[in-house]
Amino acid sequence: MYESRMVDRATVPDQSERERILAEAGYNVFNVPADAVAVDLLTDSGTGTMSTEQWAALLRGDEAYAGSRSFGELEDAVSDVMGFDRIVPAHQGRGAEHVLYGAIVEDGDVVPNNTHFDTTRAHVTEAGGTPIDCPVPGAMDPDASGEFLGNLDVEAARDVAAEHGPERIPAIVVTVTNNAAAGQPVSIENVRAARQLADDLDARLVIDACRFAENAYFVSERDPECQDASIEEITRELLGYADAFVMSGKKDGLANVGGFVAVADGENDLFAKLKQRAILYEGFPTYGGMAGRDMAAMAVGLREAVERSYLEHRIGQVRELGQLLEAAGVPIYRPIGGHAVYVDAAAALPSVPAEKFPGQTLVCAAYREGAIRTVELGSFAFPDTDRPELVRLAVPRRTYHQEHFERVADAFGSVLDRADQLGGLEVVTEPERASLRHFSARLEPVDAAFGRAD
Ligand code: F0G
Repeated sequence: MYESRMVDRATVPDQSERERILAEAGYNVFNVPADAVAVDLLTDSGTGTMSTEQWAALLRGDEAYAGSRSFGELEDAVSDVMGFDRIVPAHQGRGAEHVLYGAIVEDGDVVPNNTHFDTTRAHVTEAGGTPIDCPVPGAMDPDASGEFLGNLDVEAARDVAAEHGPERIPAIVVTVTNNAAAGQPVSIENVRAARQLADDLDARLVIDACRFAENAYFVSERDPECQDASIEEITRELLGYADAFVMSGKKDGLANVGGFVAVADGENDLFAKLKQRAILYEGFPTYGGMAGRDMAAMAVGLREAVERSYLEHRIGQVRELGQLLEAAGVPIYRPIGGHAVYVDAAAALPSVPAEKFPGQTLVCAAYREGAIRTVELGSFAFPDTDRPELVRLAVPRRTYHQEHFERVADAFGSVLDRADQLGGLEVVTEPERASLRHFSARLEPVDAAFGRAD
């Protein structure tokens, strides 16, 4: 249970205003001002509400350039909660990715991952590698059922290694939870198998731990061996198989900014190399792009993120949103994931052909209908992959209430009632780097009225 002690007033533009905003934004909701959004489900990253304890820690932040006390607090929290004693801080998750993948991936390398998130994919590519997704069968099927659909297909990853040669595999990466595959969890058994594969290939095992606490909660619910274990124990067991992990504190660090790479004890050379890269790209290794106060707030956030009562509420809110959407007739991905509900846009908007971006069309229609902001994670965001047309409704942590979710479900229900009027969208301009096009591309509707005959 929470009490709100600070509020942010929201004024919602009316529908004709929203139509103008959408057109001006090039039908890309990343260009919509946040003040014109009623319920912002674009991301769960850095958008949560901090606790009074975090604000108190923030005020006590130590801004020393070197050896900041706040860095020590962050080190202690990572050690206690996640079991790693050595960290290299970064300004956020992608900064940590740049530090790590730039150090371990070389030209011509191939990196298997259960599913690369967009920035991970881009950083592996930037370092000269080829990212290859190895989700388990059914992971991309909105109607599949399974307890750990986020798992890495270890045999598929082994085949990738056999095809390219084990010497070309610098690391096996496991992303927990699997954000790009509907936020599904990864089992401890799967991470163990990934560890074995990494050993067989003489490669590293890297975990993308952004949503480690939500993953541990699912493990505690679904793995009979872990029923008596605490969330911290599950976390430490799962991460303990890795040689290094990448963390965005904007997710399960319950912070508004920040991230880090954690390195296992045996990895002395890697740790030294990462610190040098951090100095070059992020900041001195005891702040790495974060203010001292941000490290202090994240240190508290990491401890709060593994409290069972917090996670019950958190995962419960996401489930509640999913159930309201289902009741409004919206086809959602089942089982419901940890941080977000994923809508199957191809099923929601059958009149929109695949090449006219049903996902992005749904995102824009939901904004027009109810000032709801969501994000497309289908063929628009991941153009070179074979993915279902998913729209993600990510729930910021400790921020919204039931009436917000009711508004969202109403808006999506209304869009679906008039689904056959929508023809879809076409790309007008896009950046050179296709893997990041969804952030800045501009689109226009195939029909000038964008499905509004009335
Ligand atoms: N890895 C995963 C699995 C992520 O989901 C993200 C960010 C990152 C790395 C990068 O972290 O944002 O701190 O630089 N995901 C956000 C999202 C942006 O909306 O899912 P970051």
